Amino acid sequence: MRKVTIPGGVFYNGDCIPGSSQIPDNSVDLIITDPPYGIEGDKLHRHYNRDESFVTDGYVEIPAEEYENFSLNWIAQAERILRPGGSIYIVSGYTNLLHILNALHHTRLEEVNHIIWKYNFGVFTSRKFVSSHYHILYYTKPGGIRTFNTECRVALSEKDEHGGSLNYQDREDVWIINREYKPGRVKNKNELPFALLSRIIQYSSNEGDLVCDLFLGGFSTARTAIGLSRNVIGFEISSGMFDTRTQEIANLVPGSLLNTIRTPLEPERKLTRKTWTDDEINSLRNRYQELSGTRLTEKEINNKLQEELGRGYWSIEKALKKTGIKPGRR
Ligand SMILES: C[S@@+](CC[C@H](N)C(=O)[O-])C[C@H]1O[C@@H](n2cnc3c(N)ncnc32)[C@H](O)[C@@H]1O
Repeated sequence: MRKVTIPGGVFYNGDCIPGSSQIPDNSVDLIITDPPYGIEGDKLHRHYNRDESFVTDGYVEIPAEEYENFSLNWIAQAERILRPGGSIYIVSGYTNLLHILNALHHTRLEEVNHIIWKYNFGVFTSRKFVSSHYHILYYTKPGGIRTFNTECRVALSEKDEHGGSLNYQDREDVWIINREYKPGRVKNKNELPFALLSRIIQYSSNEGDLVCDLFLGGFSTARTAIGLSRNVIGFEISSGMFDTRTQEIANLVPGSLLNTIRTPLEPERKLTRKTWTDDEINSLRNRYQELSGTRLTEKEINNKLQEELGRGYWSIEKALKKTGIKPGRR
């Protein structure tokens, strides 16, 4: 399978189902993916009535009758490569949502949220309501600590002009984000907007984490993740799309988008006084053991656990001691 490597990214031109055998078990921190829709997506201009002259060719669609098996196969691979505690976000329309949900039910992945993404160009209808939303299924693999950076974008103390919590608003499960209009620029038919991808990446991963997109399309996940200092691995079956996009992305500087994202305006509060539950202690032990197998120092492990858990240094040390682990004495 053809492979292109750039700083922060490894991309394969091929089918992600056999292709993901390149990725070891339990190695990916976050999967964000937007599989083909199974609705003749290669002819989507008929649905959306828009100028297609700048749209890149090569979207590979899955026939409707194969969608069920296709979903079972790629979602089984996603489960395998995700680390315990890792997160997966799947973007889906309504037509084949059933098959995606069915495939998720065949795994051990657990639902965290069902997010509704409302966007600005619905499919025009005259005698019924206009459909203008997608589903984003946010699941996690049990057995480890899930990264959720509660205050990565907005501090818990930030308020709007009426005293409402801006953090609450940023974490509601209905997202109103318009698709990006890029007049005159080459684009993929269904590129996900930066505002949507950066929100997922900020909440559900940390710098240096590995993010995977099994269906790269216009490489929007890859571009955003590398721009935010994450590492990326991904697949695109269409050679035309793959060649255009790998050339475009080749000069992207890792971290170059970090200064464009929303970050908290007030300092984060550490939740140091909250009591640990037994489940949290077990997950802490598993995650600590995972991180101990990496090249991180004890201090780096503690810092990572602080980020992931919103706890302070001593709270983590004390909880680890309760599990029989003596941090710093390895
Ligand atoms: C909905 S698009 C992804 C759009 C992408 N999220 C973006 O923002 O540009 C789905 C992509 O999956 C690709 N594809 C279809 N089957 C595939 C397979 N088995 N393995 C890898 N890519 C595949 C299609 O060619 C298409 O580019």
